[in-house]
Amino acid sequence: MAEIVIVPNKTAAGELVADEIAKLIARRPDAVLGLATGSTPLPVYEALRPRLEGVDLSQVRGFALDEYVGIDPAHPESYRSVITREVVDPLGLDPARIRVPDGSLEGIEHHGEDYEAAIAEAGGVDLQILGIGTDGHIGFNEPGSSFASRTRVKTLTQQTREDNARFFDSIDDVPMHCITQGLGTILEARHLVLLAFGEGKAEAVAGAVEGPVTASLPGSAIQLHPHVTVVVDEAAASRLAHADYYRYTYANKPAWQGL
Ligand code: PGA
Repeated sequence: MAEIVIVPNKTAAGELVADEIAKLIARRPDAVLGLATGSTPLPVYEALRPRLEGVDLSQVRGFALDEYVGIDPAHPESYRSVITREVVDPLGLDPARIRVPDGSLEGIEHHGEDYEAAIAEAGGVDLQILGIGTDGHIGFNEPGSSFASRTRVKTLTQQTREDNARFFDSIDDVPMHCITQGLGTILEARHLVLLAFGEGKAEAVAGAVEGPVTASLPGSAIQLHPHVTVVVDEAAASRLAHADYYRYTYANKPAWQGL
């Protein structure tokens, strides 16, 4: 099963995951990072900054999970812009080595397979950062997504559009469609690190970790992966039936194991 780490706050979560990423890059200077957008991963990117100062990042590659379809890439809330602003610029990554799915309408029917080919060419993702939606999505794989799905166009749920309306002037400005790595794509990353904070995520986290494996809760796909770390604060852990066991296990974990 996934390893569940319950931390006091977002800062502690960010530090824990950033340590792991920094170790990965030290071990493998051409590491392939799976990048996520949204508010959840921000503490990780913040904690990475001091850890990567002075480190040669010229070979690091990255693939974002998803993008809105039809959004101008220069729009401040396109995931291309978000990844540039939150990750590429502050960390000093090479923009040419960081890919975001192409959400432009022209040729959209081929952008999924092109993205899959690029991930394969890079040798696959070493560590994939994941958030989880209140409806249980990972990437933009909304409920009902096939566990075998690859990068493709999806329709966002009304819930997701409402959740993301905070980034736009109004909900009407939130795109209706997205292009997202599939659950099958995500499951091929070598290490999945799912983060969640706050009471609003508690139900989705409990479903993903302890519920049945079901396409109705796409986050539950993580139960099929051999190496998953779930990092949650107390509020996001509040619906976990076995929280005490997870605390006990983590407290007694051999130091050599890492995450
Ligand atoms: P959030 O989104 O990090 O902004 O809460 C998570 C997600 O939708 O995957």
